Amino acid sequence: MEEQIRMKERIEQLVSEIDSLKAASLEEVEQLRLKYLSKKGMVSVLFDDFKSVPAEMKRDVGQLLNDLKTRANQRIDSLKSSFDRGESVSKVNLDLTRPAGHIQPGSRHPLSVVRNRIIKIFDRIGFTVAEGPEIEDDLHNFSALNFTPDHPARDMQDTFFIATNPDILLRTHTSSVQIRTMETTNPPIRMIFPGRVFRNEAISARAHCIFHQVEGLYINKDVSFADLKQTLMYFAKEMFGEDTEIRLRPSYFPFTEPSGEMDVSCNICGGTGCNICKYTGWVEILGCGMVDPNTLEHCGIDPQVYTGFAFGMGIERITMLKYQVKDLRLFFENDVRFLRQFTGYSV
Ligand code: PHE
Repeated sequence: MEEQIRMKERIEQLVSEIDSLKAASLEEVEQLRLKYLSKKGMVSVLFDDFKSVPAEMKRDVGQLLNDLKTRANQRIDSLKSSFDRGESVSKVNLDLTRPAGHIQPGSRHPLSVVRNRIIKIFDRIGFTVAEGPEIEDDLHNFSALNFTPDHPARDMQDTFFIATNPDILLRTHTSSVQIRTMETTNPPIRMIFPGRVFRNEAISARAHCIFHQVEGLYINKDVSFADLKQTLMYFAKEMFGEDTEIRLRPSYFPFTEPSGEMDVSCNICGGTGCNICKYTGWVEILGCGMVDPNTLEHCGIDPQVYTGFAFGMGIERITMLKYQVKDLRLFFENDVRFLRQFTGYSV
């Protein structure tokens, strides 16, 4: 009797143990199988002990033992099959011959594409590149360029100042780098100055408080307005196409004399008139002029010996024209639907 109770307890204990078995891998399932069902396993050992159970109890205990064995087998099988299923699913997904998924390649920002192109065009005629600080002082951004403290032209280039020190400001143009270059370099100077500039402007489709410029400077003996015109014509044709024509209109900048603004024939309608050129056939792309003798003198260059020309253009404006972008804000929004259209423009 006592023997029967002990046996029953052991069987019950094993049943609950087996019901809660878990395994993390097929190897672990196999270990469990060995632990319970192999010849020396815990279930098999019970069958050995069964021999010593008195005859009149054999029926009862035998029934329980058989149930235990079935249960143990089922539990091990179900653990095993959960891994079999997992394995076959991953086999289906793991098709090593399948072509790789589509990867969207990145693209250069349109402003970088155009800036690099401008640099290349000028590189071909001997212009090197120089850069300067975006945080400037009044001298390099204004005074040395002939903007006296109360000069009305300062209003056209209002910018962001440091409240506690109005001498420190965000540069409004890269002409400041022209000054820095002329201060430290002896002519001949043939350079362009790409960079980010800042103005106190309300943001709209045509204006932004941050934009990008490339300015240019050529200082040498006997540089004339004809050299300026020829250089700009070369640039316009390289940038917008062989058929492009240019037109110079008189203008005013404190640091050039005479000064001009250059238009190119509208590359969208070819000069016949459209809403981009406001039906004039021409679009303005840059300001230019002969460097004012005052400015040369300011930088220690003798205006009796040297003359030079300068020009400055907005990269956004050139890019808008070239790729027919109608709203400048698109350049700063980082919307990939816009930026992706320039994939492959690698210049
Ligand atoms: N610095 C001028 C501007 O930003 C452009 C310019 C450069 C004009 C050189 C003439 C000569 O508006």
